[in-house]
Amino acid sequence: MASDFKLVLPIRPRRLRRTASLRAMVEETVLRPADFIAPLFVVEGKGKPDPIASMPGVNRFCIRDLVKECRELHRAGVPAVALFPKLDPKLKNDEGTQALNPDTLVLRAVRAVKNAVPELTVITDVALDPYTSHGHDGVLNEARDNVANDRTVGILAEMALLQAEAGVDLVAPSDMMDGRVGAIRRALDGAGYTDTGILAYSAKYNSAYYGPFRDAVGSAQAAGMKLLSKATYQMNPANRLEAIEEVLLDVAEGADMVMVKPAGLYLDIIREVRNATNRPVVAYQISGEYAQIHAAAKMGWLDLARCRHESLLAIKRAGADLILTYFAKDMARVLQG
Ligand code: PBG
Repeated sequence: MASDFKLVLPIRPRRLRRTASLRAMVEETVLRPADFIAPLFVVEGKGKPDPIASMPGVNRFCIRDLVKECRELHRAGVPAVALFPKLDPKLKNDEGTQALNPDTLVLRAVRAVKNAVPELTVITDVALDPYTSHGHDGVLNEARDNVANDRTVGILAEMALLQAEAGVDLVAPSDMMDGRVGAIRRALDGAGYTDTGILAYSAKYNSAYYGPFRDAVGSAQAAGMKLLSKATYQMNPANRLEAIEEVLLDVAEGADMVMVKPAGLYLDIIREVRNATNRPVVAYQISGEYAQIHAAAKMGWLDLARCRHESLLAIKRAGADLILTYFAKDMARVLQG
């Protein structure tokens, strides 16, 4: 009879799942507020926080509110923020010249945050997409059919230098040009900024899930009706070995930390990168990953808090030491209790 069925089993994995106490004792991966980096959007003026429709709960802040948000993040135990400016479209042009204005929005934001919350690690993006009228991360070649690598790198190195002068702790090249990490390191060292670190977006894929972010900074609108394709510099999502190549190159050029982006769809890459380098590995849970969880929760199809936790746990379990996530403040507060 089925009810009398007995197995002779020396090993029963369920034994260690029986009580909450036992489960906690054998838990392998634990999230903590210090695991997170909060990406934040900043705009000119003194207006109220401007919500981003495709990213529920995420706002574009004026500098005053950005500083307030940074104080709250610091209080919640989040160690770092990554700042992204949304520029007035009138300030954008083909060459992205606002990126080299020593008083451009993001640099004023850095000074304000560093002044108010000096203990908070401040990270800035090194890429031209918030500044160019075509929305690309660099300047175009003469035929205007590709981003010009070396000329872009020259501009990025100057941009990184301005960010270092403004007081950032880490500059984060997200542009995927060849040779930019080395050029930025030389520029920083040459000017005496030997303590300013480089968080390299090393394996950044050409993902369809960046959509909400491009709304947030206006790079999609800048590109106009034509679809903004970054396939000539961001990596093909089909490739795995190339990610390791990119990581090793960036480490050789002087990257202090390396990044895999997006995160949740690229857990295999995070693990391989973890195994390929002893540098800290950062993963970016991007706007589309965040938007998906919120959208499904809004429909009543998924539980927001549990999916948020599981999505981040998976990224850490895969091998990420740090995670850029729009959930940073919510998660830190939940974890702090
Ligand atoms: C580009 C940049 C992108 C993100 C951050 N910096 C994407 C892109 O437009 O290629 C995406 C972040 C996100 O989707 O959350 N320099």
